[in-house]
Amino acid sequence: MSPYLEELKVTAQAMVAKGKGILAMDESNGTCNKRFEKLGIPTTEEYRQAYRQLILTTPDLSNYISGPILYDETIRQSTTEGVPFLKVITDAGMIPGIKVDTGAKNLANHPNEKVTEGLDGLGERIAEYYQMGARFAKWRAVITIGDGIPSRACIEANAHGLARYAALCQEGGLVPIVEPEVLIDGNHTLERCFEVTDETLHTVFNHLYTQGVAFDQMILKPSMVIPGKDCPTQVSVEAVAEATINCLLKNVPVTVAGIAFLSGGQSIEQSSAHLNAMNALFGSRCPWPVTFSYARAIQQPALDYWSGDSARVAEAQQKLLARAKCNSAASVGEYSASMDETPVLV
Ligand code: 13P
Repeated sequence: MSPYLEELKVTAQAMVAKGKGILAMDESNGTCNKRFEKLGIPTTEEYRQAYRQLILTTPDLSNYISGPILYDETIRQSTTEGVPFLKVITDAGMIPGIKVDTGAKNLANHPNEKVTEGLDGLGERIAEYYQMGARFAKWRAVITIGDGIPSRACIEANAHGLARYAALCQEGGLVPIVEPEVLIDGNHTLERCFEVTDETLHTVFNHLYTQGVAFDQMILKPSMVIPGKDCPTQVSVEAVAEATINCLLKNVPVTVAGIAFLSGGQSIEQSSAHLNAMNALFGSRCPWPVTFSYARAIQQPALDYWSGDSARVAEAQQKLLARAKCNSAASVGEYSASMDETPVLV
């Protein structure tokens, strides 16, 4: 049993406190640089630091965000005034988190499928991050839907990795965010997405159980049950919400501390509308808090507007805050599209 038992429970509950969600800003340098390149922002550590400083020093962010997920480069950085980012986060009353996987790599013998790596030395890295001040962690597994995939091998390998990671986190004092992402890419239907998400969640919880992971000390970060981006039959907001909640109710133990969705390439409005419908229409059926752990659906308008221009920081921060506020409202079923049409909210 983890010596951190009580602390882990308290942290997990604080991560999904009413009206709050998690801000994913843990893009690896490679992913961050790709997003910068699209906007002509220099792909240097200096600009990555400036962007992360913009996010973390946004006034009032903690009204809507329980904690940010950082990347290894970011957790070691400070503001240009020399204040460590970790201090900025805790001074604002937020909880620091850290991405600990080392990325999705090709799965041997299985073309077009990935397995997430990062178990080597993970116990030591968790100990270092805990000592630095991190209190939760993230590991993302990727499941692709396509012709004849996902394979059983892919789902099993990823579920095993997630469970080994989660057990190590709890032993080392970090609340694990368990993220099995079923990708939105492809032309699959809502029904096919349900089938794959169902099998994935079932397998993940089976492995979590086998590895002795305590469900009340973890957060599940799932994707929504939604037709593929290129599926000709798109469905209503209510249909996505209903299918997603049904899939979760079928597979997620009631003791899990919380659900915090990824946005996965949905538009910013869709990400909020879907989360909102889950809470507004089906909240009373859910035994766990249902909130967000978005990256793009919080960051994108701010990143687009900033585009590396130091004169645009304050307004970019307002755009970030506005998206955080919309998603906070969605987490309690009080979002409406008109909130996104009002640009500055404070
Ligand atoms: P998106 O919300 O942009 O999908 O990112 C969430 C995340 O953390 C992916 O690992």
